[in-house]
Amino acid sequence: MTTKLEALLDRARSVRLPIATKLVLSFLLIVAFISTIYMVVGIRLISVRIVAEAQEKVRHDLNAARELYLGNLAHINDIVRVTADRFFLREAILSGNLENAYRELHRVRIREGLDILTLTDQHGNVLLRTAFFDSGGDNQSHDELIKKVLENEEPAASTVIVSGEDLERESPLLKNKAYFEFIDTPLAREREEIEETAGMMLKAASPIFDSENNFIGILYGGTLLNRNVEIVDKVKETLYEEIQYKGQDIGTATIFQDDVRISTNVKNNYGSRALGTRVTEEVYDQVVIKGEPWIGRAYVVNNWYITAYEPIRDITDKIIGILYVGILEEKYLDIRQGAVLTFLGITIAAAFVALVVSYFMAQRILIPIFKLVNASKAVASGNLDATVDIKSNDELEYLADSFNQMALALKKRDEQLREFATQKIMESEKLALIGQLAANVAHELNNPLQGIVTYSHLILETTDNEDPSKASVEKIVGQATRCRDIIRGLLDFSRQREPIKTLSNINAVMEQCLSFVEDQAIFHNIEITKRFEEDLPMIVIDPSQIERVIMNIIINATEAMDEGGELILSTRYDATTDFVELEFKDTGHGIHEEDLEKIFDPFFTTKEVGHGTGLGLAISYGIVKSHFGTITVDSRLGEGTTFLVRLPLQSVIEGQGNGRARQIINN
Ligand SMILES: Nc1ncnc2c1ncn2[C@@H]1O[C@H](COP(=O)(O)OP(=O)(O)OP(=O)(O)O)[C@@H](O)[C@H]1O
Ligand SMILES: [Mg+2]
Repeated sequence: MTTKLEALLDRARSVRLPIATKLVLSFLLIVAFISTIYMVVGIRLISVRIVAEAQEKVRHDLNAARELYLGNLAHINDIVRVTADRFFLREAILSGNLENAYRELHRVRIREGLDILTLTDQHGNVLLRTAFFDSGGDNQSHDELIKKVLENEEPAASTVIVSGEDLERESPLLKNKAYFEFIDTPLAREREEIEETAGMMLKAASPIFDSENNFIGILYGGTLLNRNVEIVDKVKETLYEEIQYKGQDIGTATIFQDDVRISTNVKNNYGSRALGTRVTEEVYDQVVIKGEPWIGRAYVVNNWYITAYEPIRDITDKIIGILYVGILEEKYLDIRQGAVLTFLGITIAAAFVALVVSYFMAQRILIPIFKLVNASKAVASGNLDATVDIKSNDELEYLADSFNQMALALKKRDEQLREFATQKIMESEKLALIGQLAANVAHELNNPLQGIVTYSHLILETTDNEDPSKASVEKIVGQATRCRDIIRGLLDFSRQREPIKTLSNINAVMEQCLSFVEDQAIFHNIEITKRFEEDLPMIVIDPSQIERVIMNIIINATEAMDEGGELILSTRYDATTDFVELEFKDTGHGIHEEDLEKIFDPFFTTKEVGHGTGLGLAISYGIVKSHFGTITVDSRLGEGTTFLVRLPLQSVIEGQGNGRARQIINN
């Protein structure tokens, strides 16, 4: 998985994109990212806000509807109470002459628009019905409301369910009005029944007392809610003012008896009131079974509404129906869609503007960069006169200024270098010429000097000890020998002949050198320690040249220890680099720091005049170099000096081609 990802990243990295594309792509990514988040959050906020607004409204509407509903009930209650207190009723019950009472009550019922207005005795036996004169004699104490008044002897009012029989007793017309055959409704709960015979009534009952305040009867009246659209239409009119949206009423109200629409202004597909249809199971469970209000979207008959439902309870607090108001969801969906589209449009336009702006900003950055790139290319190809002109008053301008300064400095240095190089070449040509001259002179002087040395020796030998000229001859011999030494050194240095390399044992070469010098007087108070590594590999060198290097270093060391000291000679093999190392460590007076870098220069010497030519280390350096080795020094003033000569094992034997000397010395 990770390797796949890495491979993908590698591929992405290997894609070469111009900086302009990269910049614009980065802007694009940022703009896309921000606007996506902005849109998602914005749309979400808008949706939530609009839905919340709608729910808030429908909640208020339900409160208003409830007030209207309860207002109706209170009105009935008032009528019943006032009428029950009237004298003629008391008279009628006490005298048993109901004719007069019937007329009066009938008038009240018609005037107040009640469906029933009925008189009972103090046990609930019906004395007279104004809606259906023939009926009477039955007992109404089974009615929860009447029961309550019988118990408390106080007025009571509530919504009640009235059975089909009772309705028929009150008036066969009412029974018909209340009857509903259920109409198939999608999403409604399963029911075994197919019809509703009972009715739901707003009902009030009031006790009647005689002049001694004895309870002598009950007057009850009410309005059947089934097929009575007065309340729901009043709600609709008050709250929604008959406003229509796309041919549909925007707001609707309904009264349910259990789950059946008994009073509604929700329309069915044919445009008439959807009476007899039922509420969805989901809403029913929440409102009727759980007894909680429902605020939210719900499917009502044939459309989605933002709805509010709350239970209607009877006098015993039993849930017997539902009060509903709802607003067509489509309107809010359209508002939301409009808002979202506007929002989207603004966001996309803003993103586009941001992109265009970023493109021009990128251009503003890129043009100076291109200028810089072109100028760098020009400088790289040797045109040091190239300059960049950027006036952006920012880092790019500083960069351009620095670039111009750099180009100028480069140009100056280039000129200086050229001048310096010309001077150096001229100087070294001069030096080479002088060197050549010196070599020629040395060569010419060598033979005559050799003659002077030989003949002055002969003269010295034949001169008597008492001869006063003997001292002068001795001086001639000494000075001539010194001249010859200088000339030889000069010759050696200037000739720098190619080494003749053979496979050699470096330990043996060291021993050989020591044997030359060990017996000499200056070695007498010097302790020599040898730390030669055994099994040292054979090495390809010119032994006579390397001997010269070793001798020179050893003699320098002894000269630095004229008061005595220790000289440690070591050899070892460095397997990692395949080099043989020769180390010479003395306890002499050491070298001044400022002299350290000069000691390999020809003619550099600190020795007294006549004691050193200053050519020893210069020659040694040349020899080691021609062996592809190195010679280094480490010195501490007053403590001693260490010379380290490193020679490669793998070298070239003349006439034998490339050969690797790996033979082990067996001592
Ligand atoms: N082991 C050492 N300790 C202190 N100084 C040293 C040592 N080896 C070299 N030098 C310094 O380096 C100088 C140059 O040495 P180099 O061998 O080139 O010339 P020289 O010894 O002075 O003369 P020549 O070798 O011709 O006799 C010496 O004069 C001395 O000052
Ligand atoms: Mg020397």
